[in-house]
Amino acid sequence: MAEITLTRFDEVRDAYRQKGLKQALYDAAGVIMADTLLTLWGDDHRRRRRLENRLFRRETFEHYERDLLPLAVDKQLDPAAAEGKGDVVPLARRIVVNLTAAAAGVDYSEGTAEETDRLFSYAVKFSEGATAVHSTRDPEELRAEVAEALEGWDKEFFAPSLDRRTELFERFSAGEIEEDDLPKDVLTVLVRNQDSLDLPRDVVRREVAFYMLAGMHSTGAATTHAVHGAFGWFDDYPEDRARMIEDPVFLQHCVHESMRLHPASPVARREAVEPVTLRSGTEMAVGDTVVFDLWSANRDTEVFGDDADSFNPLRSIREDVPRWGHTFGGGRHACIGMELDGGVPADENTGAPILLGTVALILRGLLVRGAQRDPDNPPQQDPNIARVWWGTYPVVF
Ligand code: HEM
Repeated sequence: MAEITLTRFDEVRDAYRQKGLKQALYDAAGVIMADTLLTLWGDDHRRRRRLENRLFRRETFEHYERDLLPLAVDKQLDPAAAEGKGDVVPLARRIVVNLTAAAAGVDYSEGTAEETDRLFSYAVKFSEGATAVHSTRDPEELRAEVAEALEGWDKEFFAPSLDRRTELFERFSAGEIEEDDLPKDVLTVLVRNQDSLDLPRDVVRREVAFYMLAGMHSTGAATTHAVHGAFGWFDDYPEDRARMIEDPVFLQHCVHESMRLHPASPVARREAVEPVTLRSGTEMAVGDTVVFDLWSANRDTEVFGDDADSFNPLRSIREDVPRWGHTFGGGRHACIGMELDGGVPADENTGAPILLGTVALILRGLLVRGAQRDPDNPPQQDPNIARVWWGTYPVVF
C-alpha cells in the first residue's frame, strides 16, 4: 500500500474535502479514541456530529465568552499575579478545565482546587494516550496507564455524571421537569439519544473523555504557543505590548499566527476507502494512505508569503484562507470547537472580532497583568512528545 505526503496548502484543503478518505491517525490510540467522533466514518459520523453540533452554536460560545471565561481567567490569574509568578502551562489548562468539563458533561462534586487538579491530570493522561502516534514512550506501558486513568476517572467523575443525567432524563420523560432543566452538554445529548444511537457504556465514556482532552489539551497548548509568539514579537516591537491589549483585531491576529505556526497535530492522516484522485492528479487505490503535513502546508510560501516561517501578525493573505491555516482541520472532521477557541474574525461593519476566542482572552488576561518571561527559568519542552510542545512556561508578573 502506498503512502503519499501532501505539503502544499491547497492540496491539503482539497484532500480534506475528498469523500473517499477516512480518518487514519488514531489507530494506535484505541484505548481512548476508538469509536469517538473523530474516528467515526460515514453515516455513523454524520449522525453523531449532527447531534453534538447543536451544542456548539455561536450563542453558546458568546455566553461562555461573556459570562464564564472572564471569571475563570480572573480566578486562576489573580492569585498568580499576586504571587508575582506562575507557569502558563498549568494556568491555561486550569482555566479551560471548567469550560471543557461543562461542554463535555463532567460534574464536579466538591468544586475544590484539588478536585480540579485531579480532573486536569486525568485529561492530561488521556491526551497522552490520544497522541500515542507521536509519543516516544513504550506503547504498551502508555496504553496500560491510560486504561487505568480511565477507570479512576470513571469512578470519580464519569459514573456520577452519567447517573445524574440518566435520572434527569427519566424525570424529563415523565414530564416532571422542563427542557431547560436538562444540562446542555455532550453526555446529556448521548443519554437523550440512547435509543437511536445505541452506544455501549464504554463508547459513551470514551466520547466524553475525548471531549475533555480535545478541549483542554489543544487549548492549553495553543495558549502557550500564543504567549511564546507574543513575547518573541515584543522582543522586536516592545511598543506593541500595549497595542495587543487594546486592539482586539491585532490580538486575534497574533493568536491566529501562532496557531498557524503550531498546529495542535503537525499531521493528519487519511486512508482511501475508494479510488481517489488528488488535486495533483495522483491516483490513490483503496487502502493507500495520505499524510497531510499541516506543519509545511501552514508555511506554504505561495499562500503565506516568503516569510511564512516567521511569526508576523501583520501579514496579509488571500481572503479564502483562514489566518490559522489548517490548524482546525477541514472537511467532515473539522474542529467542532474552532470558534470557541479561535474566535470569529472581524465583522466588516464594526471592524471588531465577533468572538475573540478563548486563547485570545487568556493571552490578554496575562498581558493585562504584566506577564513576561521569567528570566531565571526558561521555558522547557515536554521530553515525552517528539514535537514542539511546552512542558513548562514560567512567567513573572
Ligand atoms: C486551539 C484549540 C484546538 C485545536 C487546534 C483543535 C484542532 C482540531 C483538529 C485539527 C481537528 C480535526 C482532526 C482531524 O481531522 O484529524 C479537531 C477535531 C475536533 N475537535 Fe478540536 N481543536 C481545538 C479545540 C477544541 C475544543 C475546545 C473542542 C471542544 C470543546 C474541540 C473538539 C473537537 C472535536 C469534537 C473534534 C472532532 C470533530 C469530528 O470528528 O467531527 N476542539 N480539532
